[in-house]
Amino acid sequence: MSVRRLAEDSVQPAGFAFNGDNAGWAERTIAKYPEGRQQSAVIPLLMRAQEQDGWVTKAAIEHIADRLAMPLIRVLEVATFYTQFQLKPVGTRAHVQVCGTTPCMLRGSDELKRVCQSKIHHDQFHLNASGTLSWEEVECLGACVNAPMVMIFNDTYEDLTAERLSEIIDAFDRGEGESVKVGPQIDRHLSSPFGGPTSLTTADEAVAHDGIEHDGSSASSAEAAEGQTPSQAGRPSTHAAETDPSIKSPGAAVGAAVDQTVENAESAGATSAAAPSGSGSTGGSEQGPTGAGQKEDGLEDHSSASADADAARHDGPLGEKGQRDEKAVVADERFVEAPEGSARALSGDRAPAAGSFAAPREEPPVEQLRKTEDTAPGPVADDHFETEAASASAATSFVTPEKPTGLLSAPDGAADDLKLIRGVGPVLEVKLHELGVYHFRQIAGWSAAELQWIDDHLYIRGRALRDRWIEQAKALAAPAGQD
Ligand code: FES
Repeated sequence: MSVRRLAEDSVQPAGFAFNGDNAGWAERTIAKYPEGRQQSAVIPLLMRAQEQDGWVTKAAIEHIADRLAMPLIRVLEVATFYTQFQLKPVGTRAHVQVCGTTPCMLRGSDELKRVCQSKIHHDQFHLNASGTLSWEEVECLGACVNAPMVMIFNDTYEDLTAERLSEIIDAFDRGEGESVKVGPQIDRHLSSPFGGPTSLTTADEAVAHDGIEHDGSSASSAEAAEGQTPSQAGRPSTHAAETDPSIKSPGAAVGAAVDQTVENAESAGATSAAAPSGSGSTGGSEQGPTGAGQKEDGLEDHSSASADADAARHDGPLGEKGQRDEKAVVADERFVEAPEGSARALSGDRAPAAGSFAAPREEPPVEQLRKTEDTAPGPVADDHFETEAASASAATSFVTPEKPTGLLSAPDGAADDLKLIRGVGPVLEVKLHELGVYHFRQIAGWSAAELQWIDDHLYIRGRALRDRWIEQAKALAAPAGQD
């Protein structure tokens, strides 16, 4: 895997903005996410920026980071991780991504790379002489079944040979990429076998496979299969809701779950004489919880259980075990006869000992939940590198958030330029204003708990702590010469 870096400054444009329809699209996309979760739009925005300019520029990354109030490093992480994002200018007519992962390599991707080297440029990520073509090697693109393959913009070209890729590249270079067939480049439908289906080719085989008489008769199915595409050939020719009456109904499935719960209690029971799991009313280990003795409603089948116990009693050495089983079954009936679920039927000494019944799940305390959030310092902030001291400071233990006193509905005189605080950009400044923060002196007077409250409400987890806003605000609020 190649190292992915931003393009050199000489090719980076001075700025970026979504233009035309993309501007409105970006607004709508960001608005799709719940309040405080707008950062989830980072991938779609990066992709749209790439579609607009052909590649992801540094200015676009900065623009998106600011737009989503994200640290620049977070957006950089995303843009540099996914090979779908092009970080350097690519060919205006085709950028060929050659899969070099094992299945494609075993099927000849080295040959494809040589084609790219000869027709485009010896090195990947370099434009050809006319600037129309570029190429790169990428990891698996998910079409391994038709290896080897390449992707050009949003389409895949599969089952390639060196000759066929050469023709495709030439077509794109002439500006005729639209005319090239996408997908498999040989005579097959999607990923079906070479030369057509190799199994289930007759209706008799299909019936033998799934037990369904297709369309009434084998002959008619065979006729119906004639001329079908392989993707349709294996499908039953019926739209009936139920194609196989022997399939268990949901009622049976629920019943099975109830019986399994009883079985769990049995195996985890405190009494030493408890029967082995699966015996007695649950139908026995040979039949399992969905065995033949099971009733449709899933509750116990007494006659079946008694019969099992009787059989066990007359079984010589196993008779004693059968009696124990029967006692266990009788003891367990109080569970299965409980009106509303076996968990509620637990009582007395069995309840705590069984252990296999799920107690109502309790939500952890709010404080505990908060501690699981990513409040620890992450990678560097957007516009600076942390010092060790700052990192240590930010890593201080969690404090209970406390709403700051002195939040204002309007600035007291002229508002301070909060953007002078490192880590506060235009977006965060607006957010701070919305929270009632307009002056350095307000921030300078906060406690750690109040800073935590603000941090929580900015949805930029850890930034206010990491950048030590209180210390910065104190310095900014101090009269000149009193740092
Ligand atoms: Fe090439 Fe998966 S290995 S597409």
